[in-house]
Amino acid sequence: MSSRFPFTANPIGWFMVAYSDELKPAGVMPLHYFGRKLVLFRGQDGVARVLDAHCPHLGAHLGHGGCVIENNITCPFHGWRFDGSGSCVGIPYAKKIPPAAMLRRWPVSEKNGMIFVHHAPDESYAPTWEVPALAEHESQAWTGYARRRWRVRTNVHEIVENAFDVAHFCFVHGAIRLPESKVTMNGPLFQVNSHTAFDTPAGVMEGDIDIDTYGFGLFTARYRGLIEGLIIASLTPIDDEFVDVRFTFTVKRVPDEAATAFVAQQFMEDACHQLEQDIAVWEHKRFLARPLLCEGDGPIGLFRKWARQFYPVSTLRARAI
Ligand code: FES
Ligand SMILES: [Fe+2]
Repeated sequence: MSSRFPFTANPIGWFMVAYSDELKPAGVMPLHYFGRKLVLFRGQDGVARVLDAHCPHLGAHLGHGGCVIENNITCPFHGWRFDGSGSCVGIPYAKKIPPAAMLRRWPVSEKNGMIFVHHAPDESYAPTWEVPALAEHESQAWTGYARRRWRVRTNVHEIVENAFDVAHFCFVHGAIRLPESKVTMNGPLFQVNSHTAFDTPAGVMEGDIDIDTYGFGLFTARYRGLIEGLIIASLTPIDDEFVDVRFTFTVKRVPDEAATAFVAQQFMEDACHQLEQDIAVWEHKRFLARPLLCEGDGPIGLFRKWARQFYPVSTLRARAI
């Protein structure tokens, strides 16, 4: 249980751990997420797999020196081999494999050029929903991904709640009036469709923002106004203190290539600036389980009700959210 928050830093759900192109065939990467050490590897069949990192034999970290042979990972210390289910399938110097020679396997989903892991307290929680495939990914009408990354001292809950905190858009981000929003909840998906206006150096910009939130690990923000742009925001708990925040950007091409590049750069810089304005608040704020909400605050209460589905009952203190 995190000391700053009345709920776990590691809710249930899909969380991004790498971009697909960071993991070549037969590649191995050590991961540190959810307060755990994990190993990510890609078999020669191209499938990405994630296991607990420490070998049950004598504790070596498979992500540091482990190598992939066919679709298995071999421990660098004494050569024990593990398949994608976490079972030990070979010990080079022993005929019998101890029955307990197993590593926890973590469900993996690779979509949109990203690798996601399903986090849950134990293996009895199977994923109940899928990472969505985004239409803009690899579409010729949209630019290739631009990427930015931050390590933020907060909890994924604070970051996602921010999108539902309507009033802060005026005070933190320079919106010139409270956005008009419509919210829709459907299982792990929470959608907010807003119409808003921002004061920018180029004048007042009117536009629509559609935010689709898939649990705590992923939200997409689509902007339609002067330009069309998409931000894929992926949030992954590192431990009880920090969150790995990745923003992936793409914009719809306009006929002039230079104009597209300019628009894409402005879109990215503006979104990064807005995020950094939020980070300054998040890193120092206190989470209030019972905030003093008033008219115009937006659907924060509704968001917190929806959020409960991602907290295992055992990790949620009574009246925590
Ligand atoms: S520690 Fe992994 S094989 Fe010995
Ligand atoms: Fe914000």
